[in-house]
Amino acid sequence: MVNLKGRSFLTLKDFTAEEIEYLLDLAADLKAKKKQGITGNSLKGKNIALLFEKTSTRTRCAFTVAAKDEGGFPEFLGKDDIQMGKKETVEDTARVLGRMFDGIEFRGFKHETVEKLAEYSGVPVWNGLTDDYHPTQILADLLTMREVFGEIKGRKFVFIGDGRNNMANSLMIGCTKMGLHIVIIAPKSLWPKAELVKLCETYAKESGGSVTVTDDQSAVTGADVIYTDVWCSMGEEDKAAERVALLSAYQVNQALMDATGKKETIFMHCLPAVRGNEVTEDVLEGSQSVVFDEAENRMHTIKAVMVATLGNQ
Ligand code: CP
Ligand code: NVA
Repeated sequence: MVNLKGRSFLTLKDFTAEEIEYLLDLAADLKAKKKQGITGNSLKGKNIALLFEKTSTRTRCAFTVAAKDEGGFPEFLGKDDIQMGKKETVEDTARVLGRMFDGIEFRGFKHETVEKLAEYSGVPVWNGLTDDYHPTQILADLLTMREVFGEIKGRKFVFIGDGRNNMANSLMIGCTKMGLHIVIIAPKSLWPKAELVKLCETYAKESGGSVTVTDDQSAVTGADVIYTDVWCSMGEEDKAAERVALLSAYQVNQALMDATGKKETIFMHCLPAVRGNEVTEDVLEGSQSVVFDEAENRMHTIKAVMVATLGNQ
């Protein structure tokens, strides 16, 4: 029996396939209930700090709505609202917040910050995106794929674009843990770190999945999913021109979607998207796109994470 009470959610590395499955089942259940107008009180009496060094639409709103739906109290603390990292260390802030709040979400730059918050606060800490990882997004993506395909094990999943960003890293972990065949297509200078690929190979070995990294766009053949993300992540705005030059040949357009050779291939993107860069308008808005299902599923999966790690029942 899976029990995640008191656990932090920093990267999917820390979770088994069974635990991820459990979170997806819980999210699907909470989603079905919400569609019937049923919300719970699993987070009744729980105060939840939402720390945002970087901006957000989906993640902030998902945590806020999910907490409220379950009777919790979310408090948004933006980068100019608290002293963390300026007048006060992360360790001290963590200890103070841990005395007042029951759970802490963090979105920001250094992954080390969310690790320190977890180490020093004494309460569950949830990673709402760092420079290196975006694990709550992956739960939403796995749930969305499950809704489309039913069984996701054995599916071919292609991520094309900036192969070393937080999304590529986290998708590699999530897909290999869950038995998918993930292919990262990116120019060599944007390939993921070799040690992370190695680690994911060990997950793949256990799950029956695989991980491949290539700069060859023709590797989209047979893909069930084509996924992309912005070419410049938050904090990398100065790299815009360089990335456009490097990645133009890796744009997701209808020709690339057709090159999978499968009509039922779906298009995924964590959003926000830059139309005309990593994806064309027609693909993003087209019938193969499930991007708004992914966006909605952020809320149901984040609710599942909070209920599982902090909920009263
Ligand atoms: N996908 C995602 O994390 O979106 P936000 O940046 O709007 O939170
Ligand atoms: N890679 C993107 C993801 C946004 C959800 C970023 O970090 O900006």
